[in-house]
Amino acid sequence: MLLCREHTYGLLVMKRILLVFILAAAVMYGILHGNLWRNNFYWISFYGQTSSVRASPSYVTSGVTISYNQLPPTAVERRNALDTCLLKPAFESLLGVDKIYPFLCANDFIRVAEFQGSNKFELPYGIKRAEQFFRLALSRLQNCGLSSEEDSIPCRRCIVVGNGGVLRNKTLGEKIDSYDIIIRMNNGPVIGYEEDVGRRTTFRLSYPESIFSDPIHYDPNTTIVLIVFKPRDLKWLWEILGGQKISVKGFWKKPALNMIYKSSQIRILDPSITRKAAYEWLHFPTRFPKKEKPKHPTTGLIAITLAFHICHEVHLAGFKYDFTDRNSSLHYYGNETMSQMMQNEYHNITAEQKFLKKLIDKNFVINLT
Ligand SMILES: *[C@@H]1O[C@H](CO)[C@@H](O)[C@H](O)[C@H]1NC(C)=O
Ligand SMILES: *[C@@H]1O[C@H](CO)[C@@H](O)[C@H](O)[C@H]1NC(C)=O
Ligand SMILES: *[C@@H]1O[C@H](CO)[C@@H](O)[C@H](O)[C@H]1NC(C)=O
Ligand SMILES: *[C@@H]1O[C@H](CO)[C@@H](O)[C@H](O)[C@H]1NC(C)=O
Ligand SMILES: *[C@@H]1O[C@H](CO)[C@@H](O)[C@H](O)[C@H]1NC(C)=O
Repeated sequence: MLLCREHTYGLLVMKRILLVFILAAAVMYGILHGNLWRNNFYWISFYGQTSSVRASPSYVTSGVTISYNQLPPTAVERRNALDTCLLKPAFESLLGVDKIYPFLCANDFIRVAEFQGSNKFELPYGIKRAEQFFRLALSRLQNCGLSSEEDSIPCRRCIVVGNGGVLRNKTLGEKIDSYDIIIRMNNGPVIGYEEDVGRRTTFRLSYPESIFSDPIHYDPNTTIVLIVFKPRDLKWLWEILGGQKISVKGFWKKPALNMIYKSSQIRILDPSITRKAAYEWLHFPTRFPKKEKPKHPTTGLIAITLAFHICHEVHLAGFKYDFTDRNSSLHYYGNETMSQMMQNEYHNITAEQKFLKKLIDKNFVINLT
């Protein structure tokens, strides 16, 4: 009995000593790591070439955002932050070898586009002949990173919330809010639908015709990811952030005429993300016959592609459509019906549903609905 007690006591002491060692090691690591980050110059490997890049404090993933005052941000610097999680996601095989940084940066979007081949495609899937528009629009943005909060999560669990009517009355709100990153799209509202779709929005993918303009929808914690389809969209961003008058010519429907988000909340999606969705995943032809409308991926599919680039686990909700009932509701809000979706000429829903089924069957994503 005594022996036994002494033995436990000895173990306890050893455990304490071990704990002190671990703590000391952690403190040492913190000091060394902090010092490394504090250096103004550091070396990173960019696409196989090593180059010297000036570190600006806003990229330090310390959870604190310090606004940059030396150089505008570049994708080159931002890439490291994506590689902090050692666990390889199941879907990595889909991404191929090139890790694409998802948002364009004013400083190096031309260089990045040349590397990825985006300079060989015109909008919507590249920057060819629209470089000046990209340059103008990007000059209005201060930021091209994930926000510091998202950066500090090493292994990100994400949910992409589609706008499908399947979300009605499922009370998935609390579950959706429990993810690290919540990606929503277009004008799928949160207000009034919290029980079914949750409250938080980390990223919202939009284009000028689909972005919220009513301040009631403003959320300071949301980053807007602008999908650019035409040069006009970039001119619109430049005008609206410069407080200029916006002409509504050249849009599919009336665009937002006022910007409810701060420019620091806005990013421009790298067109190569959409190109990957269109050509590699949905196998769209690069040319469509003259009498046919060219098909583009839906915002939902682009959102899933983005999620694969910034997350380590991707879950979906609201992506199922009921094709058997043309009267069933298309979205979880409003009163559009499935028949409107089936008439859509700009997307190929069949191809997307087939691709989604493959993702789910291969366990690359988990579908909540
Ligand atoms: C959802 O629930 C509300 C109230 O319980 C009900 O009026 C409505 O018909 C339901 N909608 C669907 C699509 O089931
Ligand atoms: C934004 O995030 C902060 C910190 O997480 C939180 O306290 C606040 O309630 C959020 N605001 C909104 C409108 O969701
Ligand atoms: C759909 O709605 C229309 C009119 O609202 C009705 O005539 C039709 O029977 C409905 N179809 C189904 C399958 O419910
Ligand atoms: C639903 O449809 C009715 C009539 O078809 C229309 O008056 C109403 O504004 C619509 N509601 C929404 C939210 O679109
Ligand atoms: C949609 O994609 C499928 C392949 O998944 C193809 O067979 C079909 O022709 C496409 N439809 C249109 C209208 O492009």
